[in-house]
Amino acid sequence: MVLSWGVLLPLGILVARFLKITLKQDWPNELDNKFWWLWHLRLQISGSVMMLIGLLLILNKPDPSTDDFIHWYLGWAVSLMGVAQIISGWMRGTKGGPTDVAEDGSMHGDHYEMTTYRKVFEYYHKFVGYSVLLLSAAAILTGMWRSNAPVWMWIGLLGWWMMLIIVFAYCQSKQMAVDTYQAIWGSNKEHPGNAMKPIGFGIRRRPENHQKKI
Ligand code: HEM
Ligand code: HEM
Repeated sequence: MVLSWGVLLPLGILVARFLKITLKQDWPNELDNKFWWLWHLRLQISGSVMMLIGLLLILNKPDPSTDDFIHWYLGWAVSLMGVAQIISGWMRGTKGGPTDVAEDGSMHGDHYEMTTYRKVFEYYHKFVGYSVLLLSAAAILTGMWRSNAPVWMWIGLLGWWMMLIIVFAYCQSKQMAVDTYQAIWGSNKEHPGNAMKPIGFGIRRRPENHQKKI
């Protein structure tokens, strides 16, 4: 559970938030860089598999009685919301746009047109994604407390979380949380989604005349 919710899943969220445009990418001449997508998928799927292994282990323990109800509720809430997160990712709808043109030449797609379906996905996936991340920190802490975890584990984990928070704050201050829509299709106003405001806190839109800093 520590490897899953303490390490792999938070890293997957950082990649999805801050590496939609990578450091060496010449945006907007190079668009739709799949780096964040591949690594979000890899990290979230391997993190979820680790979570399910953790669940199987705990459910198969010899004495099934639970004497820590706070951890029990937190643990089940995080596990169920984690599974729902994977399902919501899977149900994100179609893409469309100039990078995904259908055989008849149409560019229809939930993401390209920012349909209500896509908007609901983005609000849900982001809001629940960050909420479950916070709940998982409480689940890890109560789990470690319940199991009398050794001191090195408390220090190591708190140090690691501190590092993640610093990396988050640094990337946010460097304006690396770019809107997915722009990262994929650029900032040209001819793309329908560029007319609406981006979904999520602290997400940035680059101006149409954006120049790469040298
Ligand atoms: C986000 C992280 C975690 C999740 C999602 C989680 C999930 C769960 C769940 C669902 C249960 C209840 C199983 C049942 O129905 O009997 C449980 C129990 C337990 N968990 Fe966790 N857990 C997490 C982190 C941890 C950690 C970090 C530890 C220890 C280092 C831990 C140790 C335990 C123990 C010892 C129990 C059995 C409790 C008892 O018998 O009273 N958990 N966990
Ligand atoms: C436990 C698993 C997962 C968690 C906790 C999670 C969490 C998150 C979070 C918090 C974000 C928002 C990052 C930001 O601030 O921009 C995000 C973005 C995203 N995730 Fe996941 N995710 C999970 C699994 C998946 C899966 C399996 C898929 C696809 C099959 C997926 C697809 C996406 C997409 C498309 C975005 C970008 C949304 C946008 O910016 O428009 N996620 N994820």
